Amino acid sequence: MHLSVVGSGYVGTTIAACFAELGHNVVNIDIDEDIVDAINAGDPPIHEDGLAELLEEHTGEDGNLRATTDYQAVLDTDVTFLCLPTPQNDDGSIDLSIMEAGAEQLGKTLAEKDAWHTVVVKSTVIPGSTEDVITAILEDEMDREAGVDFGVGMNPEFLREGTAVHDFLDPDKVVLGADDERALEDMHGVFDPLIERADAHLVETDTRTAEMIKYANNSFLAAKVSLINDIGNICKELGVDAYEVADAIGLDDRIGAKFLRSGLGWGGSCFPKDTAAIRAAARSEGYEPAMLDAATEINDTQPKRLLSMMDRHVDVENKRVAVLGLAFKPGTDDIRNTRAIPVIEGLQERDAEIVAYDPIADENMREVYPDIKYAESAAGALDGASATLVVTDWEEITELDEEFDTMATPVVIDGRRAIDRRDGIVYEGLTW
Ligand code: UGA
Repeated sequence: MHLSVVGSGYVGTTIAACFAELGHNVVNIDIDEDIVDAINAGDPPIHEDGLAELLEEHTGEDGNLRATTDYQAVLDTDVTFLCLPTPQNDDGSIDLSIMEAGAEQLGKTLAEKDAWHTVVVKSTVIPGSTEDVITAILEDEMDREAGVDFGVGMNPEFLREGTAVHDFLDPDKVVLGADDERALEDMHGVFDPLIERADAHLVETDTRTAEMIKYANNSFLAAKVSLINDIGNICKELGVDAYEVADAIGLDDRIGAKFLRSGLGWGGSCFPKDTAAIRAAARSEGYEPAMLDAATEINDTQPKRLLSMMDRHVDVENKRVAVLGLAFKPGTDDIRNTRAIPVIEGLQERDAEIVAYDPIADENMREVYPDIKYAESAAGALDGASATLVVTDWEEITELDEEFDTMATPVVIDGRRAIDRRDGIVYEGLTW
């Protein structure tokens, strides 16, 4: 099929490349010329495993993937995926303005097309947004009726940063939300090659339910981590190893072994934003989402517990403290909502001299905290430090050992169970 993907963020670029891999003809549209040039040159604008290979294979003269800044490109396609950002307002609620502007531009362009076209919302949006906001804008701009003259669908995305290409090509499930048959048929045209190849579960539903499935998925996972963190904190207080407990409960099929790593909690661009948006949406309807509120509160508490564990061993005022790992998880340079931020803030409140290290996320962190020190290596950060706080479990951090012997006082407070407890270091695990 001929597909257009509006937006070249981490979802847009990844799915455009993956659609090309499935054999579709794809055009990726973005307002940023540098990003468009990079994609056309086969150069990924974001750090994602496997993406460079896909771009190299599918861009270029005989390729089936190209990028452009020109919205007119949608006219030569059958289906358009809207992959634009959905940031949050100050109260945590969703800010749909970028989606609205994109839908307006798309509607204006599609008004020139007589043939049927399906628009699929890929971005995470609060239930009702596709039907009440996006469809209404498209109908207005095109002066046509959804379900009669054009189709609208909603197809939530479950990609994880760092493994997005793999997650797309080997999904657990594909959710197709549509309010009319023809839009659903078009979405089948796009996804059937994937469903057959990956043997993925298929969920067919309406757009509102598809939107909620995404929030429920992320809320459940975030709450699962917060629950194991709550249990982990109890374990720590009672002198029990939460990881041994998690290994055992994970054997129960009803619980499952994944997402049971307790520690500093969740960050990134998705869990914090999505849980905040769905809580705000619930509240605006008069429902108090007690469980998700608690999940958020526990997540906010974990960095504070890490810092107070450090306080019990060493007063860090005017002393050097190493922060190991800045990315919100290993395998990415993304620092949005990383737990490193509250950790750094806590250290600043204590007037510590902070020396941070991350294999790839340090450049991004420099923009947020230009005044702290950044080491070239983990060993460099540890040298002469009075305490170390482990924030991200990069493999190279898990392999550290004798490097701790260069610390002024070898206090290691581990937020991710990255380091082995051993003689010669004062070791505290957050939940073990
Ligand atoms: C998450 C979801 O996993 C994806 O399915 C979803 O598509 C994506 O959000 C999104 O909405 O776009 P991602 O944010 O890339 O993906 O990261 P995850 O790998 O899910 O990790 C989220 C956070 O939870 C990380 O900070 C991680 O360190 C933390 N975590 C995860 C734990 O603390 N313990 C665990 O056991 C698992």
